[in-house]
Amino acid sequence: FLLISSPVISPRVTGAQRLPDIIVIGVRKGGTRALIEMLKLHASVVAAHNEVHFFDWDSHYQRGLDWYRSQMPYAQPGLLTVEKTPAYFTSVKAPERVLRMKPDVKLLLIVRDPTTRLLSDYTQVFHNQLAKHKRPLPLETLLMREGELNPNYKPLNRSLYHVHLERWLAVFSVDSIHLVDGDALIQHPLPEIKKVEKFLKLEPQINASNFYFNATRGFYCLRARGRDRCLHGSKGRKHPPVDPDILQKLYEYFREPNRRFFDLVGRTFDWK
Ligand code: A3P
Repeated sequence: FLLISSPVISPRVTGAQRLPDIIVIGVRKGGTRALIEMLKLHASVVAAHNEVHFFDWDSHYQRGLDWYRSQMPYAQPGLLTVEKTPAYFTSVKAPERVLRMKPDVKLLLIVRDPTTRLLSDYTQVFHNQLAKHKRPLPLETLLMREGELNPNYKPLNRSLYHVHLERWLAVFSVDSIHLVDGDALIQHPLPEIKKVEKFLKLEPQINASNFYFNATRGFYCLRARGRDRCLHGSKGRKHPPVDPDILQKLYEYFREPNRRFFDLVGRTFDWK
């Protein structure tokens, strides 16, 4: 009887599911997938498989922390659990809710030139529409209204980093948030990920042998435990050509918001 009632332990599932120690809060299209995949190169990091959308979707949040925990991977004691949901960054409710879950959680925010991010955002929606057999609208139709930028176009707002970061900084100290330079992560992933390792107080482990440049993809791919792996084909897609006048308008639109973001974080980025 005793034998029958003992729990069945699967040899592959060991450890326990724990609330995350680290959350990649965004920004959408900043390079969040690359960041979490690179972080997983470290033997002490385990990551949730999917974007959980716990803190931004009320329907998920209402399920409570036990449900959230059940979305996490199994991890041995001493390992760090990470999840990424880029929509947290722009969610009004997320900062307070994350704080309530774990005040000492470590937050990673990967940012990228706001104009490039907007074009990447447009490109993602474009492909999502095609996949649903819908006809995507041209960028200009969405972005422009009577010759000016349409402030109601959501991707424009998502690139106003200072607006969203201010909400996080009203709740978390600046030391809780590590900024990753998404443009640098594309060009030179190793130094950028070493900074993350350091912020997380992880033993230095990720090294040059974990990366190789794939000329066909035009991006770095990952090498770990004898396996070579590039990100999914939906990462690193071509952006649409943009009218130079519109590009100029975008650069101008983001100039002041960028300056305010730089002030907030006490550093500058090489954006147009
Ligand atoms: P594009 O597809 O517009 O080039 P996210 O994972 O947050 O959706 O971000 C996607 C972006 O990650 C891609 O945007 C791509 O530029 C960037 N990226 C960064 N490092 C990458 C890598 N090693 N391989 C592929 N894409 C990478």
